[in-house]
Amino acid sequence: MGSRKKDRCKKSKHKKHKRSGDAGEAWEATKDRVRAHFLDGNTGPWAKSLAAQDAQSPRSAQNENGADPAEDAAASAQGGTATIAATRRGPDYSVPSSIDIVADPVLHALSIRRSISKVDPETPNDSDLLEIIRSISSVADHKALRPWRFLIIRGDDRHRLGDALDDAAGVVRKPGETNTKPLRAELLLALVSSPVEHDKVPEWEQHATAAGAGHLLELALWQAGWGVMWRSGNLTNTEPVRRLHRLDDHELLMGWFYIGAVPERYRQRLTTSTRPLPKPEQFLDTL
Ligand SMILES: Cc1cc2nc3c(=O)[nH]c(=O)nc-3n(C[C@H](O)[C@H](O)[C@H](O)COP(=O)(O)O)c2cc1C
Repeated sequence: MGSRKKDRCKKSKHKKHKRSGDAGEAWEATKDRVRAHFLDGNTGPWAKSLAAQDAQSPRSAQNENGADPAEDAAASAQGGTATIAATRRGPDYSVPSSIDIVADPVLHALSIRRSISKVDPETPNDSDLLEIIRSISSVADHKALRPWRFLIIRGDDRHRLGDALDDAAGVVRKPGETNTKPLRAELLLALVSSPVEHDKVPEWEQHATAAGAGHLLELALWQAGWGVMWRSGNLTNTEPVRRLHRLDDHELLMGWFYIGAVPERYRQRLTTSTRPLPKPEQFLDTL
């Protein structure tokens, strides 16, 4: 281990000793989870500046003004961008990216994620779900209002959902018949967006956080090896369906995540098929 890494380890141990009570327990519970890829200096601007530090002595890493060369470079890049922005429109792709979305496990998972429309019966257990939720609770959330929750729907509760959907659509079935749509998976998670009154955080931001939790859930399940598909529709926020989910007036049902095992035929196909990603340029522009 290089001296830089040792220093960082020392720092994190020091922090651990300073924590006590609930904060200390939370730290103990999460300390092994906080090693983000870039913290090891593998990627990102931090990696570049650490590599530069390794290559130079601590003294020579500072220029005559005492400024960090990495900061200098960033400042001059910003100036350059400002000059370019004044003369041309659109993003500047002339400097190639050093980001590798195949090598980086998180970026790779993001780029290959797919919805699985037909899942097999095996499902994550509720403890698995709790871990998945723990992992996605880092979702960006203005003022940490936590305006979202999931409801677990298994077994006969899926029939109750089918009945509520029928009720909302005015469908009357023959005795013994049932709405089979909620039966497409053994496990559904309903996502509820639950905004609170806040003078600095408008309601739409809180719905955005809830939607973010939904997208993170899909990604986390994918990464954990489970299949999932987010479904909703025109009936989602009708009165019978809202009543079944015990929603308050200000809450929104954001749909259901149909969850199960990835069928073998999908698994086979996923190893060979490559779905081309949309051209990223269409999602990026300047003012
Ligand atoms: C809020 C939301 C609701 C959705 N509802 C449905 C739905 O009811 N039926 C459906 O076929 N796809 C629905 N989708 C789209 C699928 O979840 C999925 O994203 C789409 O089939 C594309 O597949 P992919 O995720 O592999 O790109 C919904 C997506 C979102 C974000």
